[in-house]
Amino acid sequence: MRLDRFLSAQTSLTRSAASEAIRRGAVCVNGMPVRKPDAAVNPELDAVTLAGKPVSYEQFVYYLLHKPTGVLTAARDKKQPTVLDLIKPEDRRRGIAPSGRLDKDTSGMLLLTDDGQLSHQLISPRHHTAKYYLARLRDPYRPEYAEQFRAGIFLREGGREEQCLPAECVPVGGQLALLRLREGKYHQVRRMFAAAGNFVIDLLRVQIGALPLPPELPKSAYQKLSTKDISLLCEDSSISSVRAFCMQHYSSYWIK
Ligand code: URA
Repeated sequence: MRLDRFLSAQTSLTRSAASEAIRRGAVCVNGMPVRKPDAAVNPELDAVTLAGKPVSYEQFVYYLLHKPTGVLTAARDKKQPTVLDLIKPEDRRRGIAPSGRLDKDTSGMLLLTDDGQLSHQLISPRHHTAKYYLARLRDPYRPEYAEQFRAGIFLREGGREEQCLPAECVPVGGQLALLRLREGKYHQVRRMFAAAGNFVIDLLRVQIGALPLPPELPKSAYQKLSTKDISLLCEDSSISSVRAFCMQHYSSYWIK
């Protein structure tokens, strides 16, 4: 692989900024300065440094962010803070983007990655990846929600009624409900509860597939996912086990 391509893939430098850094002599390969942007490197074997700091090789990066409310799920915005702004400059790489989206007013688990194939798999309704949401409702939970959502509730989409895929819903105590969706329509959870005559006050995404939002991960913080975590994203859990997890860790989330 060309040195300039390696450097721009593994850092936030553009290809031309990488070439410029190489020409300046800021890049060493196995301890020796290399000033040719087209020099060949073996990412698995060669030790590359930029301004004396090692540049490690990872084909893709996967960050699990605890998105806070008030932040946009977008790469950048001229006026408002985005989830990419929460990633430290040294952890940013070109191509990192949120996988799916959470509304500005929704908090919880968001994957940021440059692995487009996995991202697509997690978003596409064809793959049926489960997403779990904990909703704090204005009015008490009603047992009818389970059947209404399982049957596929109708939402207005572009001027016509569209039926949602079957979703599971269980109470978590008080005004809390846990919902499992396998698709991601615009404001879906909020609109589903509105269609059922209730109102979502707060919304937290607590799990994707079989990977929960780590309870010890503070709002706005993120962590790198392990290979095991990544495979859990593509598996599933029973809603009763997610419910038990929420009762243990997240039932007082909005009180803190
Ligand atoms: N449903 C919503 O209403 N909002 C989200 O952010 C995600 C799902």
